[in-house]
Amino acid sequence: MAASRGSLDSYVVSEKKFQALSAPKGVPDYVPPRSAEFAYVRDRFVGEAARSGFQHVELPVFEDTQLFARGVGESTDVVTKEMYTFEDRGGRSLTLRPEGTAGVMRSVIANHLDRGQLPVTLCYSGPFFRYERPQAGRYRQLQQVGVEAIGIDDPILDAQVIALADRCYRSVGLNGFRLELTSLGCSECRGPYREKLQAFLFELDLDEETRRRAELNPLRVLDDKRPEVQEQLVDAPLMPDNLCPECQAHFETVTGLLDDMGVEYTLNKRLVRGLDYYTRTTFEFVHDGLGAQSGIGGGGRYDGLMKELGGQDLSGIGFGLGVDRVLLALEAEEIDLDADNVHRRVAVFGVPLGDEERRSMALIVDELRRAGISADMAYGGKGLKGAMKAADRARAAYALVLGSDELESGTVTVRDLSSREQRSVPRGELVARLSELLDR
Ligand code: HAM
Repeated sequence: MAASRGSLDSYVVSEKKFQALSAPKGVPDYVPPRSAEFAYVRDRFVGEAARSGFQHVELPVFEDTQLFARGVGESTDVVTKEMYTFEDRGGRSLTLRPEGTAGVMRSVIANHLDRGQLPVTLCYSGPFFRYERPQAGRYRQLQQVGVEAIGIDDPILDAQVIALADRCYRSVGLNGFRLELTSLGCSECRGPYREKLQAFLFELDLDEETRRRAELNPLRVLDDKRPEVQEQLVDAPLMPDNLCPECQAHFETVTGLLDDMGVEYTLNKRLVRGLDYYTRTTFEFVHDGLGAQSGIGGGGRYDGLMKELGGQDLSGIGFGLGVDRVLLALEAEEIDLDADNVHRRVAVFGVPLGDEERRSMALIVDELRRAGISADMAYGGKGLKGAMKAADRARAAYALVLGSDELESGTVTVRDLSSREQRSVPRGELVARLSELLDR
């Protein structure tokens, strides 16, 4: 059958021609040993959030396109240039989620979580999709761990959410990052400030497109990277100098608490985020070892978002931490994850020296797994040398050697793979002895 354009047929490769396809452009695969590092970072972050009482949510990877247009902001690059939008077979416009906050708000409203105990504190992890120009640390499928605390407008929450992000990074050993902090004001003070900034910008020598941006979203002009624009912005009025008394007091409580908690930050009065929903406290974590894509996480308050999405007028604050970039930052800081046994595939590795021994070892490994001890073994006809190599590759702590002598005496030789010490252990005592040894 002739393949018609746009039909699935045009993408089907005949079996003869089939070659392993590469992943779509800008989309990383995580395979061993890197995937172990990926899972370690993600699980550490999720664990930190759980320790602060955040509850797990599992949300759709695609949503109605309207949700992001309304939630993220129609003038943002994310919405105008970067969304993966498609029509499903029922003619609905759907979009792969470019970020997590809008979806969490939708779900909180739809599931009436906002009618229960407040704040609602939720944590999520997974892939997000942005059609950006791929480069080191900038992917089209990116991975975040995020949290959102919804429904209580208390600056204590802001400081706690920021301190949580700081702890997440430190929990995997990162040190070389900075926290940049600002306040973007509220609906009261943002309007007058916007006018003030526009009046300033309209006096400058700007090209047509930048002028248009100044009309639509003047704050974003502050983020223009071109030196000829930056030169003219030296004396621009800045939001943190134009806060209303309530926002000023809110911000002072946040910074005061961060000081008392020992969370270091720098005030960046020009901080502009790529998403439009932010109000008041807004922040970014930047790692200096990463080059151009240095943002390893960011977040802030979004006090008008729930109302904008058709819910109650409740406030919220949260963050998204970039797992891909944290992995690159760990590499840049040369942090040795082996200290935490991140690459340990199993704790115990079976080394059987013959056919009968292999069968026995399968039963031992099964017994260990049932007892909660991670274990694997050498398969096929590997000799002692090959099997020991496999044990090392699995980064096991102990090898269990089973030869004809051991079979006969009903014992197993337990070899400590770091000290190379070995001891003979009766089969019946193996689980107890290994549990003891691994517990130390
Ligand atoms: P965001 O700053 O757009 O915020 O993304 C958070 C983090 O995701 C970034 O700091 C970065 O580490 C990572 N990231 C973003 N884009 C890419 C990319 N193309 N490749 C690799 N990593 C990337 C948000 O998404 C907000 N939803 C965060 C938030 C939650 N604010 C309040 N609550």
